[in-house]
Amino acid sequence: MKNNSKKLVIESTTLWDFPTQNYGDKPHGDNKYNGVTPAFIIWNLLQRYTSEGDLVVDPMCGSGTTYDVAIELNRRVKCFDLNIVRKEVIKADARQLPLENNSVDFVFIDSPYSNNIKYSDDKRCIGKISCEKKEFYDELEKVALEIKRILKGNKYFGWLIGDQWIKKKFTPTGFLLYNRLIKHFQTVDIICVTRHNQTSNTNVWHYRARKFNFFLRGFKYLFIMKKVNANSDFQQLF
Ligand SMILES: C[S@@+](CC[C@H](N)C(=O)[O-])C[C@H]1O[C@@H](n2cnc3c(N)ncnc32)[C@H](O)[C@@H]1O
Repeated sequence: MKNNSKKLVIESTTLWDFPTQNYGDKPHGDNKYNGVTPAFIIWNLLQRYTSEGDLVVDPMCGSGTTYDVAIELNRRVKCFDLNIVRKEVIKADARQLPLENNSVDFVFIDSPYSNNIKYSDDKRCIGKISCEKKEFYDELEKVALEIKRILKGNKYFGWLIGDQWIKKKFTPTGFLLYNRLIKHFQTVDIICVTRHNQTSNTNVWHYRARKFNFFLRGFKYLFIMKKVNANSDFQQLF
């Protein structure tokens, strides 16, 4: 492990704290891609919920972190996005994936959290909708239903998302998405992933947070969910 201080281990608690985006001495995704996912997260999920040869899908794969980790672990992988930055990525809308029903063993997704990052000019990009609007969750629920369609029964997915505090207003984006997910899936667990290297991690922002009485975002949620068979004892809890 040349490039980072943390060893690759299967995490044993619900608090995951990774000091760097990448592990090892090969790239996994592109750490210059805005919103890139820490490769450790995907590595951990694939260790727990997949086996060699399984088909892994990322419907919003950006720079392809999922692609690189899955290939390294001898999983089959299909990665989609509207913003194509490398040849392994297939152009598709996450709400309409070119995949058969019940054909996928695991899905990882790190969706936009709001309209804070410009990913592409594609009008279908969900990152053009503010998380302060109901429409944002309506569109993410369509992505969730597409994940349900393509996943095999009793298989898992992981969804990474963070909350928003902007212009003196907090939006609990994670809870609002989770409310949609539990309509369709069973919850396996919820992981708290420490945020690092964000632009607000500077002395001036820490000073402002104390002076003006707000909190900087310190974590993201990783929802681990399971598609249960129709005849199981899954109950909606609301
Ligand atoms: C947080 S980034 C993903 C980062 C990625 N996991 C990586 O490691 O590079 C979110 C991605 O969602 C994509 N996206 C937004 N709306 C989409 C849609 N409707 N269909 C497919 N991809 C979409 C964006 O283009 C962006 O690349």
